[in-house]
Amino acid sequence: MTAETRLSNDAAPKMTARDVSVYYGAKKAIDCVSIDVSQEHVTAFIGPSGCGKSTFLRTLNRMNDTIANARVDGAIELDGENIYAPSMDVVQLRARVGMVFQKPNPFPKSIYENVAYGPRIHGLAAGRSEMDAIVEQSLKRAGLWEEVKDRLQESGTALSGGQQQRLCIARAIAVEPEVILMDEPCSALDPIATAKIEELIHELRGRYAIVIVTHNMQQAARVSQRTAFFHLGNLVEYGETSEIFTNPRVERTKDYITGRYG
Ligand SMILES: Nc1ncnc2c1ncn2[C@@H]1O[C@H](COP(=O)(O)OP(=O)(O)O)[C@@H](O)[C@H]1O
Ligand SMILES: [Mg+2]
Repeated sequence: MTAETRLSNDAAPKMTARDVSVYYGAKKAIDCVSIDVSQEHVTAFIGPSGCGKSTFLRTLNRMNDTIANARVDGAIELDGENIYAPSMDVVQLRARVGMVFQKPNPFPKSIYENVAYGPRIHGLAAGRSEMDAIVEQSLKRAGLWEEVKDRLQESGTALSGGQQQRLCIARAIAVEPEVILMDEPCSALDPIATAKIEELIHELRGRYAIVIVTHNMQQAARVSQRTAFFHLGNLVEYGETSEIFTNPRVERTKDYITGRYG
C-alpha cells in the first residue's frame, strides 16, 4: 500500500516531492517517496531512528549535496520550480528553505551578527538602521528579543541551549525564508526550553511552511497538523495528525504510535 501524497482538503502545496529516492553509495536510504508540504500547516516527520527522516528532510533544501556519496533521484519543487535544476542557485534556495538543526549551532559571533549575517550576504538591508530593524524583528519573531535586547554584542554561544536554538531560528527567519525545516530541534533541550520552541512553532505557523522531524510523538501531536510516518526509507502513511494518532489506516503506523517498536 502506498501512502497518500496529497491531502484532498489542502490548498496548493508549497513544496512537492515525487518519487524521491536517496542513496548513500549503493545503499538506498529513501525509497520512492512522494509528498506535498503545505504552506498553512506544520508537517511532522516521525518514525524510528535510522528510517530516513533526516535524509528526506535534507532533500528539501539540497543539504544532501554536501554529503559526498549521497545521490537524490526524483523531483522536488518549490512553488512549482524544480529545486534540482542546474539553474537553481543553491545558496538562494537555502535562504528560501531554511534549516534548524538538532544541536543549536550559532556562529561564534555576537548575537547581533548571528542574525545579521544572512541578510548581509543576501543584500537585504540598505544600511545600519535597516539591519537593526531586521535583527530586532527576527529576534522578536523567534521569541528571543526581550531576553537579549540589552546584550546584542555578547557572543551567541554564551546563551543557554534553548536561547541558542531560538537564535538559530531567528537567523533562519532573518533572510525571509518561505519554508523552515527543523530536524529534531528540541532533542538537546530541557522541557522548559522545548515548550518555548513548541510555542514558537505555533506562532510561526502560516507565515512559513514548517516541517519538523521529531522522534517524540507527543511533540508531533502537539505542534503539527500533518504527520508523515517513515519506516525503513518508506513513507508509510501521511495524513492529518489527529487521524494518524487516533485512527491510523496502516498497521505499521499503529504499531509505531502504540509503542510496539521504535
Ligand atoms: N552521510 C551518510 N552516509 C551514509 N549513510 C548515511 C548517512 N546519513 C545517513 N545514513 C544512513 O541512512 C539511513 C537513514 O538515516 P537518517 O536519515 O539519518 O535517519 P533518521 O533521521 O530517521 O534517524 C540510515 O541507515 C543511516 O545510517
Ligand atoms: Mg535524523
